[in-house]
Amino acid sequence: MSLQSPENETFDVQNWLVTNDGSCQKLARVPSPSQGKSPYRLYRFLSDLDDVLERAIDDTQRLELICPLVRRLLSESPWLQLSYDLPDPKKGWSVSMLYDEPDYPLTIQMVAWEPGRVSPIHNHATWGIVALLDGEEKNTFWQRSQDSEHPDRIEPCGDRVLYPGDIIALLPEAIHCVEATRDRPTISFNLYGETQYDRRFTFNPETHTATLF
Ligand SMILES: [Fe+2]
Repeated sequence: MSLQSPENETFDVQNWLVTNDGSCQKLARVPSPSQGKSPYRLYRFLSDLDDVLERAIDDTQRLELICPLVRRLLSESPWLQLSYDLPDPKKGWSVSMLYDEPDYPLTIQMVAWEPGRVSPIHNHATWGIVALLDGEEKNTFWQRSQDSEHPDRIEPCGDRVLYPGDIIALLPEAIHCVEATRDRPTISFNLYGETQYDRRFTFNPETHTATLF
């Protein structure tokens, strides 16, 4: 599938998987499920997610199965494209919560980043899926170094620019930072499992330290 950006560039949308060691790989494109009632409303998406969470054998399979559901939701629910707040001028970003139920392992957010802003380097300590809806986002990936003196030392190991329509899936220990690289905000749909807060960090590559996030 190809899309055209406002700058009239044509690109193929893609699903990407970032592994725990920072490797970014193409994820097999499973056709979006089209059976069942249309439009694909949020509650049906949540119901299908519930089934996937029960039957997936590991996080990688879970992410492969969820990506086509996200594609279908985004293509059939135009209201989602407008369900975000513009970035806070002081912070440079905004988060609009779409779904967060206590004691249930799912969080859905719309996230916006101001042009030029760079996120802290972080992991998520849970599986995650980010679908870019607008703007252009550079993901830089990091991996832990084999350094017994500095166990939280990291080094960059690759990057990937995401365009609208791209989806990036992250395993729990994947470490990345994102940068809004165009002259307009990046808008993304973000879906996460249950965060293990004692394993979620921001990393400082200068001091080789990690801080709970
Ligand atoms: Fe992230």
